[in-house]
Amino acid sequence: MPEFDNHCDNLPAALGGAPVFVQTAETQGKLDRWQQMGEDEAQLAYDMTLRNELSGGTPVVREFEDEWRKRTGTQFAITTINGTSAIHSAMYGLGIGPGDEVITPTGNWICSIAPALMLMARPVFCEIDPKTLLIDVEDARRKITERTKAIVLVHLWGHVCDMDAIMKLSEQTGVKIIEDCSHAHGASYNGTPVGSIGHAGVWSFQGSKPVSAGEGGIVATNDVDVFERSCLIGQVNRKVGMDLVTDKYRQLQPLGLGIKFRAHPVGIGIALVQLKKLDALNARRSQYIQTVEQAVKSIDGLEPITSHLGAQRGGFYGFCLHYDEQKMGLSKQRFLDALRQEGLQAYAEVYPLLHRLPLFADGLDIFTGGRGPLCTPQMGGDYPGYKEGDLPISEKAWDKLIMLPMLSDPIEGAAENVIAAIRKIAQHADRLAAVEA
Ligand SMILES: Cc1ncc(COP(=O)(O)O)c(C=O)c1O
Repeated sequence: MPEFDNHCDNLPAALGGAPVFVQTAETQGKLDRWQQMGEDEAQLAYDMTLRNELSGGTPVVREFEDEWRKRTGTQFAITTINGTSAIHSAMYGLGIGPGDEVITPTGNWICSIAPALMLMARPVFCEIDPKTLLIDVEDARRKITERTKAIVLVHLWGHVCDMDAIMKLSEQTGVKIIEDCSHAHGASYNGTPVGSIGHAGVWSFQGSKPVSAGEGGIVATNDVDVFERSCLIGQVNRKVGMDLVTDKYRQLQPLGLGIKFRAHPVGIGIALVQLKKLDALNARRSQYIQTVEQAVKSIDGLEPITSHLGAQRGGFYGFCLHYDEQKMGLSKQRFLDALRQEGLQAYAEVYPLLHRLPLFADGLDIFTGGRGPLCTPQMGGDYPGYKEGDLPISEKAWDKLIMLPMLSDPIEGAAENVIAAIRKIAQHADRLAAVEA
């Protein structure tokens, strides 16, 4: 992915030659002073190791969960090994199970919806709004059937969904809402933190995220049953009474369902230090993005992503713009090549639209023997699959996106530098197009 620092190498043959990779956040060379990890993170990891606080709901894990509850204004929060298991826990928490349908926008990351498959529920994809890139609430409404249990929305790249419209839909239909906030740490909607508006909020703390645990995640909710069921599915051996609030599942504790999604305490310790830096990080990223967005408004062929009224962006996990080849008079690929020649890391690829992935387009006999939610008629089921043209609004909008470099601690004049490079290419688009031809 563009926003990742995905250094990938092969080990020397003497060490087996196995490929290795490190997936952390990207710093943008000379323009960016940001260092994602510092002495404080290292010191806490060191101290925790010497204290042997390496497994369980340790004091640091409890402190982080407390802090998260306070920051998000939620009553309950529990850490997990990653964002994917946080989503799995939230889905189980909401009672999603065999035969259910879960709607999500096709413009989302696969891990946001894939846990539904493990619960034998079927993902159903809806359109994104082409201006905001966020869930098209009216299309989600059209996709609701009597089997629909929940909607997983994503605050993509730190943009905030229209939570008034989505919660109204939920109230009208009884469909529950999971907010995937993995790109939007610290964002809010009309002053209310994202993740606390729907029935469950989930965050990833994977290594490239604005709050990194290396690998980690969290579920937060105000619904006691969602919380207790989240504990049940993934928190084996967290002590009786430590987390559970009611007696409903007490006879099953401390083992719950015997599945472990418990976070690594050292990762959560690192995330605790990162969390203290989040507001400053968001302020710097926001200022940089807004400066560039303001400038590109006057350039034909480039357009910022629209924000909903009342949305306070956060996290800023990626910096996306709409690109119009016709208006620019230059192919997207050539424009991106030119940006790279100017020393800027710019990319075309955002996540693949989910309905275009072979898994969801063609279906799969996931559990073998014609069982599972993605079995097509040939496999013994009724999964219809997807084809190009099924979600035309999203397809068109997605193909027009470009990603610009995200600067997290820009040097003096860095935003102006980026803007100058973009302007220069736009001004010479004709000549670049002629070379291309
Ligand atoms: C929107 C979204 N949801 C869920 C996840 C899954 O999180 P994790 O990688 O921590 O499992 C990610 C990770 O990138 C994500 O971007």
